[in-house]
Amino acid sequence: MDPTNKAKGPSPHYSLYQREIFRQGGTEGKLPHFSVHPDELVESTKKKLSDRAYFYANSNAGLGWTDRANREAFYSWRIIPRMLVDTNVRDLSVELFGHRIPAPILFAPIGINKLYSPEGELIPAKIAGELGLPYCLSTAASSSIEDVAAANDSGASSIASDGGNYCQVRAGSNAQSPRFFQLYMGHDDDVTMSLLERAWKSGFDVCMLTVDTWQLGWRPTDINLANYVFYYPPGTTGNELGASDPVFMRKYGDELKNDSGKWIDSSVWHGKAHTWEKMPWLIKQWKRISGGRPFVIKGIQSAEDALKAYEIGCEGIVVTNHAGRQVDGAVGSLEVLPEIVDAVGDKMKIIFDSGIRTGSDVFKALALGAHAVQVGRLYVWGMAHEGEAGCRHVMKSLLADLDITMTVAGYPSITRDVNRKALRRNESGVYPRGEHAKL
Ligand code: GLV
Repeated sequence: MDPTNKAKGPSPHYSLYQREIFRQGGTEGKLPHFSVHPDELVESTKKKLSDRAYFYANSNAGLGWTDRANREAFYSWRIIPRMLVDTNVRDLSVELFGHRIPAPILFAPIGINKLYSPEGELIPAKIAGELGLPYCLSTAASSSIEDVAAANDSGASSIASDGGNYCQVRAGSNAQSPRFFQLYMGHDDDVTMSLLERAWKSGFDVCMLTVDTWQLGWRPTDINLANYVFYYPPGTTGNELGASDPVFMRKYGDELKNDSGKWIDSSVWHGKAHTWEKMPWLIKQWKRISGGRPFVIKGIQSAEDALKAYEIGCEGIVVTNHAGRQVDGAVGSLEVLPEIVDAVGDKMKIIFDSGIRTGSDVFKALALGAHAVQVGRLYVWGMAHEGEAGCRHVMKSLLADLDITMTVAGYPSITRDVNRKALRRNESGVYPRGEHAKL
């Protein structure tokens, strides 16, 4: 029997990636070049990057307790495996903002990717396009909006002749793959409008406003290195998105020549909070520009804020604590997910973010009511190892892990079967570190 000859389902048989790896090892002696065990992956990233890049990717607020709480929250939930279930064809696909995506996983917005690989954001954008998963571009990116759109499309078109990736982009989109734009909003509305116009023109069709990071949190490992790339001469890495913006350059281009921090200080992390009062204006502008496409708030950690986001007209929220990078000693993001789902889960899309490392993590977040999850550090660690190949390997591994988890745990369909009944809470769980077989 040919184990690759499987009935076609609504999503690819991601699980076959495991077999491909085993076959390459067994028949050609080719082993993966780095470990995808998340604890080992972050460790080996240290050897691949400069201190600045490594700590920027991995720094956390304060003592790192929120980062730990994020992981502990996953450990507190256990999956209940079910037996003798027909899992021969799994359905990992979900609908998200009019796109049908083959698996409920997004590439989270992460800034300054050139710290991790010379091609920066073009790498994850391309891999997201290949996989048909939404790519969310950060305002703090080190590439222009237009170049990232082209990379994302090139990834999508490269697999079209190969049977495709099972992604169906919403009708009427000018993009070949779903892409969203994460906005850090400065206090010059002309610049904000210009960014949104550019994003929309380039096929980014969901606006995701981050509200937990008007300035970066207190992160001792970055403090120790004075780790803020924007202030270091020649001051180009990190300014690409601003330096490619016609409105920003017309108004502030001269100042940027003398002050490499001008873009970041005025348009990204300026330290001056916006409030709920500004939101209706921003939503109205995005709707005008995009013809009514969704507006999402990223950074929600309470049911009260989730309800407010709903009441002002958001179509979605991202339940995240910025991966533990902002408030130390805060609640774990997965800890608050159930109450947020109870408050708004039937009214708007909930994207979960913060601490996803494995297929079982994805499964748990979905079982608790998220409609999709975002992963960030994982793909950065992958690209830090081997650029495009590393990013692809890590993401295909995560997809295979999720698909195999569903197969062996007896849950064939994300939308039909993966719900709270699939989990049991373990109140006393304390997440252990480093307890696994190592090479
Ligand atoms: C930016 O989003 C950061 O967390 O550094």
